[in-house]
Amino acid sequence: MKIVEQIKQPIYDEMELFEQKFSNSMSSKVALLNRITHYIVNRKGKQMRPMFVFLVAKMVSGGTVNDRTYRGASVIELIHTATLVHDDVVDDSNRRRGFFSINALWKNKIAVLVGDYLLSKGLLLSIDNGDFDLLRIISVAVREMSEGELLQIEKARKLDITEEVYYEIIRQKTATLIAACCGLGACAVNGSEEEVEIMRKFGELIGMAFQIKDDLFDYGEEKIGKPTGIDIKEQKMTLPLIHVLNNCSQKERSWLINSIKNHNKNTKRVKEVIAFVKANNGLEYAITKMKAFQEEALTLIQDYPESEYKKSLILMVNYVIDRKK
Ligand code: IPE
Ligand code: IPE
Ligand code: MG
Ligand code: MG
Repeated sequence: MKIVEQIKQPIYDEMELFEQKFSNSMSSKVALLNRITHYIVNRKGKQMRPMFVFLVAKMVSGGTVNDRTYRGASVIELIHTATLVHDDVVDDSNRRRGFFSINALWKNKIAVLVGDYLLSKGLLLSIDNGDFDLLRIISVAVREMSEGELLQIEKARKLDITEEVYYEIIRQKTATLIAACCGLGACAVNGSEEEVEIMRKFGELIGMAFQIKDDLFDYGEEKIGKPTGIDIKEQKMTLPLIHVLNNCSQKERSWLINSIKNHNKNTKRVKEVIAFVKANNGLEYAITKMKAFQEEALTLIQDYPESEYKKSLILMVNYVIDRKK
């Protein structure tokens, strides 16, 4: 059995029902919006966030989920989708999930508005049902994601990012939402405050590993459904490059910075930078760090009694760093 099927086995029914509910949660009276949301629903992603919600909920509760769990999972996936639609505008990217991005097909104006629509639909789903404890967890994530994206832009402009700041950026822009999935999963089934916090931390550590993996994809040539090699073009410095910058000669450093600052749209030069990063163990370093986050995450659930949910969750943590897209 494929690894994803294996992970999904104990949450198979929940994921089926989730998909229906998620799809319904987007509906609108505006024909153009419906066209676009259909386009989005038909090109679904890996749905790792709802999977985290259900697996954590079932591990914590010993196997039950409730309506709040479903709503929480839908809100998170709506917000995730909204940020991807916006992200492709911000990153000027024309592909997502193996197809054209919303901005590529309908232009930036519409993509910005569709992202806002999805975000508002998510927040309303919580409000209309009085899920205020869940809404608090989610709103913190929404705020942090915006801050993380802006911090990333600030650093891309100044090109003065350090490893510490990189971790802060990825914690905010990516890890915080996965943290929300796990915290919310525990909260929706009335886990204790302490349990919610442990699960939140667990998700945060996984999220860190998740984004390092995503940043490593950018250095590869594999087909992952979105463009690769665009980070340097966007002057976005990620862990492999940051590590190499901190461990090369002054002359090499000047060449790297100059390449990113002034030649970032020059395909040949960008390729040279990528080759330099690879030759100087930038990828190996990032992989080591990614694994450290993964292992720290696993220690947080080791004391839970063995169950099929816990087993899947461990597989899921490993999938985050072994995945092919
Ligand atoms: C992509 O997330 C955005 C990042 C945080 C790197 P996913 O890789 O989970 O996207 P989909 O939903 O599977 O397309
Ligand atoms: C994804 O960030 C969006 C957020 C985490 C908000 P990236 O720009 O790094 O990810 P991809 O590679 O486009 O999915
Ligand atoms: Mg981005
Ligand atoms: Mg992007």
